[in-house]
Amino acid sequence: MRQATMKGIETLVRESGAYVSRRVFSDADIYKNELENVFGRTWQFVAHDTQLPKSGDFLTTFMGEDPVLVIRQEDGSIRAFLNACSHRGPLLCMAEEGNAKSFSCPYHGWVFGADGTLLNVPREGGDGYHHQLDKGQWGLQSIRVESYKGLYFANFDPAAPSLRDYLGDFAWYLDAIFDPLPAGVEFLGGTMRQRLKCNWKIAAENIVADTYHVLAAHAVAVGVCMGDRGMQIGIEVGEKTDVDALGISATIDGHGWNANFDGQGIFGLFKDPAPWLAYVNRQRQRYIEHLGERRAWFVGSSIDGGVFPNFLFVPGFTFRQIHPKGPNECEIAMWTVVERDLPPDLKREMVRFNARMLGTSGMFETDDCANMERIAMTVNATQGSRRDSHYAMGLGRERERSDLPGLIDQRVSDTCFRGYYRRWAEFMQAESWREIPLAPRKLT
Ligand code: FES
Ligand SMILES: [Fe+2]
Repeated sequence: MRQATMKGIETLVRESGAYVSRRVFSDADIYKNELENVFGRTWQFVAHDTQLPKSGDFLTTFMGEDPVLVIRQEDGSIRAFLNACSHRGPLLCMAEEGNAKSFSCPYHGWVFGADGTLLNVPREGGDGYHHQLDKGQWGLQSIRVESYKGLYFANFDPAAPSLRDYLGDFAWYLDAIFDPLPAGVEFLGGTMRQRLKCNWKIAAENIVADTYHVLAAHAVAVGVCMGDRGMQIGIEVGEKTDVDALGISATIDGHGWNANFDGQGIFGLFKDPAPWLAYVNRQRQRYIEHLGERRAWFVGSSIDGGVFPNFLFVPGFTFRQIHPKGPNECEIAMWTVVERDLPPDLKREMVRFNARMLGTSGMFETDDCANMERIAMTVNATQGSRRDSHYAMGLGRERERSDLPGLIDQRVSDTCFRGYYRRWAEFMQAESWREIPLAPRKLT
């Protein structure tokens, strides 16, 4: 039976998302509700084109807590299925990725094709089912899939708007990552995974919205990478006050984009930034011609953000997805994503950098995970769960701008937090997609 929508949401998310009850990070009923009302209706990332290059290539992932099998079809399309045998429900495919023509259930041996059809059933005839089983009715449960610029998203809800409408004007920002000339992006290597003892939103909000933590939480990591140079950048950023110098945070329908405009933000962390900057300067000219001056600002700049609810990116470094595993546990899946025509030695350096810095045991990652699990310790305690979390930085300062889509504030601001939790509340209380608004599109 469908989980009821949340009543009294206004007591959990108050003042435009500036104050959020810590119960949303610990309460088991709220969690059950969001599996249905958020993960049952939103578009969730399931694969990138480059992860499944050939027919029969597959990977396994999750939508909410539901295991999902994603397969490249013979006609080149991508389809997604519940990764559960339709006979009695066990996990069908246990491999993380691979290539297969069919999938055989380990329990009684039903065999499913890459298109989800039930191909073969042991004892289908007189020694078992007496030819009375209608195999056409017992294929894998198919899930709706749509794509944007090489990204495949899936949605359980047939009434959801198209992926393109779901992304709305946020696609304008995504293009700055996923539409680079001439070759697009590439998901490199495999998937890194780790489990964290905290609610999934604590891990998601860190990248969708939290630019404030970097200089405190990552002070040591920045110092190790950059020495005094890192401190100097911190001081310079602190002295700037106007939006264009600092960069922006932008929120649209719960999606978040936080970016500076210096064109070299991420590369200062490398031992030798020179080859990176040379590459970026070449790319910037292409961006100006292809996407215009405004988005060329983002090339090489430090960006973090995400597509609501759980697909997150720190371009140049890791892309990730946060899968819920109970009210107080989540799994982070991570990938290294680079521009496809990046020189091979720089690709290798990026993979190594990610392993050291943002991978499961990387310096930045361990800083963040320690703070996330410390939040989980207090929000799961009796008194601690009764307080609100504070997301009021910059409240009332968000503005629309003619040259940038979304609601905009300076980069270090809680704007994207507030947008994220306002959107979360909209999903939690809506009976159906008919009650969930989409921001009007200004851009094509
Ligand atoms: S449960 Fe899969 S074949 Fe029986
Ligand atoms: Fe961080």
